[in-house]
Amino acid sequence: TSASYLTYPSNVPLIVAHRGASGYAPENTMASFELAEQLGADYIELDVRLSKDGELVVIHDVNLDRTTNGTGIVDDYTVNELRRFDAGSFFDPGYSGETISTLEEVLDRFGGRIGLLIETKDPERYPGLERKLAEELKRHRGLKDIMLQSFDFDSSKRMHELLPDVPVAVLVHEDKYPLSGDMLDELASYASYINCKVDQLDWKAVADIHKRGGKVMAWTVRTEKDMKRAKKLGVDGIITDYPA
Ligand code: G3P
Ligand code: CA
Repeated sequence: TSASYLTYPSNVPLIVAHRGASGYAPENTMASFELAEQLGADYIELDVRLSKDGELVVIHDVNLDRTTNGTGIVDDYTVNELRRFDAGSFFDPGYSGETISTLEEVLDRFGGRIGLLIETKDPERYPGLERKLAEELKRHRGLKDIMLQSFDFDSSKRMHELLPDVPVAVLVHEDKYPLSGDMLDELASYASYINCKVDQLDWKAVADIHKRGGKVMAWTVRTEKDMKRAKKLGVDGIITDYPA
């Protein structure tokens, strides 16, 4: 029968807007998140760190210099100090009104509207980061379509332990390929997704992850060629700067 065809989910692979629609708007800002939603992405990917006063703030780099008009280390500033920086002009002066947001603000605005894939950045720098994140997500209890990820496997494992109902991913860095069976077995015990660098992915890696019941997303897709390759390999999600 055609039953399996009819029930096949239309949103596979998931389209995940990397730092929002960061190819078209300043990364990790409300503008890039709004655009990701308008372009029909399934999820927004965003990066979180802690401010000096322990608030979860949305910014990729450890320091402010590349993406804001501030200088120095993010966690040398309180959240109120961080809010004063311009986080849009580095991309285009037309975005000068964009600022650094807290995770709470992103959850308030986008939770339930679009999926959110939240990455813990440099978790070894911020003891208690995962606990803080878990508390924030529990305050927004009932939100669906949340996923968590980290390059730091221990951070992903801690998030799984704190929030067993929320799917957790591990991001796998270049130096870990080819993925060994032992590593995949270990990761399968807490990670629902193994998110791999697109140019390191091949049929075997996808099959090895699927065989263990896991899912796989490709990052970071920036060309049509990589998009087509990832799709052909049968990935479950594509993390891209260009969700359109
Ligand atoms: O989601 C994949 C991607 O975000 C990983 O790299 O450095 O952009 O956080 P990065
Ligand atoms: Ca990220």
